Amino acid sequence: MDKFLIEGGQPLTGPAEVSGSKNAALPIMAAVLASDGPLELTAVPDLDDVHSLLGLLGTLGVHAEFPAENQLKLVVETTRPHVADYDLVRRMRASICVLGPLLARRGRACVSLPGGCNIGHRPIDLHLKGLAALGADIRVQQGYVVAEAERLRGNSVFLGGPFGSTVTGTCNIMTAAALAEGRTVIEAAACEPEVVDLGDCLNQMGARIQGLGTPRIEIEGVERLGAARHRVIPDRIEAATLLIAAAITGGQIDISPVRPDHLVAVCEILEQTGMRIEQLATETVSAPGQVTWRATAPDVIAPTSFTALPYPGVPTDIQAQLMALLCLADGISVVTDKVFPDRFLHAAELARLGARITRDGPTAMIHGVERLSGANVMAGDLRASAALVLAALAASGTSTVRRIYHLDRGYQRLDGKLNRLGADVIRTGDSRGPSPPHWDTGTTARPDHSGHRVAGGQGKNPRSRSS
Ligand code: EPU
Repeated sequence: MDKFLIEGGQPLTGPAEVSGSKNAALPIMAAVLASDGPLELTAVPDLDDVHSLLGLLGTLGVHAEFPAENQLKLVVETTRPHVADYDLVRRMRASICVLGPLLARRGRACVSLPGGCNIGHRPIDLHLKGLAALGADIRVQQGYVVAEAERLRGNSVFLGGPFGSTVTGTCNIMTAAALAEGRTVIEAAACEPEVVDLGDCLNQMGARIQGLGTPRIEIEGVERLGAARHRVIPDRIEAATLLIAAAITGGQIDISPVRPDHLVAVCEILEQTGMRIEQLATETVSAPGQVTWRATAPDVIAPTSFTALPYPGVPTDIQAQLMALLCLADGISVVTDKVFPDRFLHAAELARLGARITRDGPTAMIHGVERLSGANVMAGDLRASAALVLAALAASGTSTVRRIYHLDRGYQRLDGKLNRLGADVIRTGDSRGPSPPHWDTGTTARPDHSGHRVAGGQGKNPRSRSS
């Protein structure tokens, strides 16, 4: 299993490139099952989760080609298989995104229940309720969801739950409704940019979807979905993580491509900590809405408080990384997570680096400290890993961050990106475990990747309020 050795104290500076969005790419890839294809995608991030989903799609009759770096062509070779196997689904919860498309196009879907998760309880009751409202016959049998419907029928579907709407649930119902007979209205739909990106791609395939980005999505069902070409939106969570890397190390980065409209809440919180963010380049015709930002760290990190909420609120997926930053703030900050109220596994590990965090239910109080110091820490989930890496970048001395496979699930070679900005991150293995994924143009195989440090900075200047 790979781990990172991080020598803290390098201020990160220079240009940083943001990859395509994981959480947009996954449901978009799954949506090929609802179409006759092919689906040609660009800006697909090279991640373990993407490769896991490709493995699952392969068992469902989808052939993948890699024409160039971060490009993917998906061809539907057969529409017969309808079983998403436990061994493939358990690797990644987003596998549930195949349920709606499979059912809508093939009339039958048998998808393993995804099982437990480190960030809290993650039921799929809203997915099942939505598909049932579209006329599917649904039962849970031997750990699998079995859903059947000769043809789904449009209906009114309410997707609000105790913690807000559901992102992948909205993706599932929207994709299924695109092929249903008649009109579907999804109320309390998720407004996340990743849902909008999927809707845009489905419309490219021939779907008739309106109201994307609002809580009311209207879908006029069509007989079939065809070929599409689509560019995946930039990953707003990766962008925010890189911005925090600059903030926590006292650096300055030029980051692109970013969609400012996707980062309003994060930008607000970072500016409250004292970070300066300015737009450098304007959008181009080939990438509308995407710009470059220059982000400059504050001299002293000001404390602030926030609540993670569904979009357009601060994303739960950046809660842990912002908490890492606030560990070094000059005062007390309060962080609440209303999407995943138990998503605080990182707090105890941050404490190993010297952070002072107390937790009360869905809320954590962070007492800023003068400095963090290097330690052995272990990541429990994807975003917790990112938070630990960020804290280690600012800590004095060496940190070891274990279980980096979590990070590789959702960040395209974060160590390389950080090292190009001057960080000192070395990837090493306890034994040769799984390697970070690598886009292999021309085939589906993935070559080994030694993953050593790409480039590093010189200065040793651990982030502290006195520096
Ligand atoms: N919920 C229900 N019933 C459901 C579905 C969800 O009660 O049927 C609850 C969940 O327990 C949670 C809340 O609703 O409290 C929101 O869950 P949601 O369904 O929106 O989460 P998801 O679709 O499973 C996606 C992202 C997550 C991200 C959440 C929230 C993907 C592949 N995953 O998950 O991303 O945290 O939305 O924004 O899009 C990550 O990237 O690290 C990650 C975990």
